[in-house]
Amino acid sequence: MTTTTRPAPTAGPIALATPARIAGLDLPNRFVMAPMTRFHSPGGVPTDEVAAYYRRRAENGIGLIITEGTLVGHPSASHETTVPRMTAGAAEAGWRKVTDAVHAAGGRIATQLWHLGSERRPVDGIAAWTPSGTTGAPEAGAAAESLPMHTMTTGDIDVIVAAFAESARVAARAGFDAIEIHAAHGYLLDEFLWPATNRRTDAYGGSPARRAALPAEVIRAVRGELPVIIRFSQFKERDYEARIADSPAELEAILTTLADAGADVFHASQRRFWEPAFPGSPLNLAGWARKLTGRPSITVGSIGLSGDLPFPQAMSRLGEGLSGGEFDLVAAGRILLGNPAWARLVTEGRFAEIRDYEKAHEDVYY
Ligand SMILES: Cc1cc2nc3c(=O)[nH]c(=O)nc-3n(C[C@H](O)[C@H](O)[C@H](O)COP(=O)(O)O)c2cc1C
Repeated sequence: MTTTTRPAPTAGPIALATPARIAGLDLPNRFVMAPMTRFHSPGGVPTDEVAAYYRRRAENGIGLIITEGTLVGHPSASHETTVPRMTAGAAEAGWRKVTDAVHAAGGRIATQLWHLGSERRPVDGIAAWTPSGTTGAPEAGAAAESLPMHTMTTGDIDVIVAAFAESARVAARAGFDAIEIHAAHGYLLDEFLWPATNRRTDAYGGSPARRAALPAEVIRAVRGELPVIIRFSQFKERDYEARIADSPAELEAILTTLADAGADVFHASQRRFWEPAFPGSPLNLAGWARKLTGRPSITVGSIGLSGDLPFPQAMSRLGEGLSGGEFDLVAAGRILLGNPAWARLVTEGRFAEIRDYEKAHEDVYY
């Protein structure tokens, strides 16, 4: 493992350590753990090891944890057997241990609810549920493996909305503080947002606002249970250049539809948080979400990673974004895999103790 001595950053850590009240939740600071699939829940049930993994981040200064993608209870959601579920047999009891552990450590925790859409694998013979039976990227998901893709009827849409609602009810019982709806990265709800995969001519396709109709229905169906965070992105896992909105006006049509449906917080997924979302303005995607909707937003993307933007500048940029009202919370992903105490080390200025992110950290689990 390598360590890097870094010069002390400026206002970033101070702003990150400032408490916030967001969507009715009292958060001890602005640090968020980004959702990361880890494949450690056999049969879809989170184990004691999963509870310890999240507790370790909460007791080391992460104010809000967003769990790895958690599958809603419909056979089309995924083929995966070690990705957690919300409604499977013992899953609720497993999640209760996780939420209790995080709360005991002073943290808050949201669950990310997930349906893979065309990204499911054909191992169990179940067709991929999609908006229009097509994938946007030539090598994408089910299409690459000749799995028949099913174009969802409006009846199917009702079934999926009900599956999200049922998962939200279980999540509330299991002690979660909030729900995050996964509408990013090319999975089912994002396939509705993206014109390349949504060619529908009914109420769920066409204009940007109509493409947002299904994610909006999901928000309306879960909002009575817990505060709702919606995660969205321009890029897709298989197409980094993809866009759901070509202009601020198109983004506004999508995001105000989601805000009107009851989204409390927008989690704007970018690969590099400092990149402007549209030409002519330095605002990043989270900045645009906040500006267009008036709702709080979470920024994310390469935070804490050594790369194009050196650590002190990245911290300064985060400090400016937080204190200037561009975004409200800051999510870190990969840096937390090998550094469970990353938030504490940043807050306490112990930069020399931070281990640089390495791909191999994705294989460890502690
Ligand atoms: C191992 C791994 C698993 C991920 N799983 C999810 C997921 O389940 N849901 C999701 O929305 N994003 C997922 N992501 C994306 C992260 O939430 C985050 O947006 C991305 O890693 C960029 O942040 P970072 O540069 O701080 O890592 C995953 C990323 C990694 C590295």
